[in-house]
Amino acid sequence: MLQDKRVLLIVGGGIAAYKALDLIRRLRERGARVRAIMTRAGTEFVTPLSVASLTGEKAYTDLFSLTDEAEMGHIRLSREADLVLVAPATADLMASMAHGIARDLATTALLATDKPVMIAPSMNVQMWLHPATQRNLRILEGDGILRVGPGSGDLACGESGDGRLAEVMDIVAAVETFFSARSKAGDQPLAGRRALVTAGPTHEAIDPVRYIANRSSGKQGYAIAQALAALGAETTLVSGPTVLPDPDRVFTVRVESAREMLAACEAALPADVAVCVAAVADWRMADDTRQKIKKNSGAPPALKLVENPDILAGLSARANDRPRLVVGFAAETQNVVAYAQAKRAKKHCDWIVANDVSPATGIMGGDDNTVHLVTADTVEDWPPASKSAVAERLARRIADHLGEPTV
Ligand code: CTP
Repeated sequence: MLQDKRVLLIVGGGIAAYKALDLIRRLRERGARVRAIMTRAGTEFVTPLSVASLTGEKAYTDLFSLTDEAEMGHIRLSREADLVLVAPATADLMASMAHGIARDLATTALLATDKPVMIAPSMNVQMWLHPATQRNLRILEGDGILRVGPGSGDLACGESGDGRLAEVMDIVAAVETFFSARSKAGDQPLAGRRALVTAGPTHEAIDPVRYIANRSSGKQGYAIAQALAALGAETTLVSGPTVLPDPDRVFTVRVESAREMLAACEAALPADVAVCVAAVADWRMADDTRQKIKKNSGAPPALKLVENPDILAGLSARANDRPRLVVGFAAETQNVVAYAQAKRAKKHCDWIVANDVSPATGIMGGDDNTVHLVTADTVEDWPPASKSAVAERLARRIADHLGEPTV
């Protein structure tokens, strides 16, 4: 149910902070990707190391840490999530949120986020019942902030009453309900956007019966077209020859050669985003050979080749109808990231998704992929994942980049 949902967990300072560890485990078991920010008080109760071990990512703690900011600016941290979950939400965090106070990384991310926020309050009963907290709660509810708990019972401070952090499984259930309600309401951040994807190999005719080809299966490109369409984009897939069926809700144009692929891409413009995944043949025959080359016509023929047009570079260079975001792929067998950075600069695209296709990885033609997302100033190493999971993650990133839907 939570597959690939991105939860930004803010761990406040309170005795219940230890329960955040179990919460992370339960969310991840269900497929969610959890990234955590801890308040300074939160780190007094659980260590960033425990949180990082369970999320599989660094636990962010410090607004003014240059390393944290260089790795992941606080704005990006607050935006790259589908839900921001504050657990435990202390009285102090609730007060800061209600009044827009941003004094550390957690409160700054809460003020900077444009994503839905859910709080799981946890505090002493008198603090919970205090008019100030109740006033803040009303403000937060007026702001549309979601809430789970608190529960009632014995509190760590020895008193009993309202103020217990909701049970971990109740928080998980609230998160699941949030996502299922949202998917029913239509999770379509790319609605009104147009996407263009190239995929598969190209076939370059040597003569009417022979061609130059490569081992591209088309799977990654097809998965990306499908993922973009699933998020609401009006998607055109320009595909070289593959054995794959047309993806659902995608307008698929089948072509053979690089030149046909280029023409079909130009016909599909304008587009908000272009993702060039095709393994376009670098060369084609210099001359059209209309008759089959015969074996007995003498020595083996010398194939005279000329370079094919570069579709990715061509789309990046368009003057009036350049897609706002142009994404290329780079399949490399060594120096993967460095070559990808060079390729990005050379082809003037915005992002390059780089993968290592050296034979030892077994990636070429397989169902899994391990990629690095190279942008103008960052490199993200994504964990090994299925090609469809890579596609969904990339589609989400594209949606985040393009911003709010246009319809
Ligand atoms: N590409 C393209 N048109 C071409 C060649 C490549 O659109 N004629 C795109 C691919 O779809 C991919 C990216 O360019 O997004 C990288 O292609 P690649 O063939 O790896 O780059 P080259 O410039 O050919 O570099 P090399 O083969 O030397 O690694």
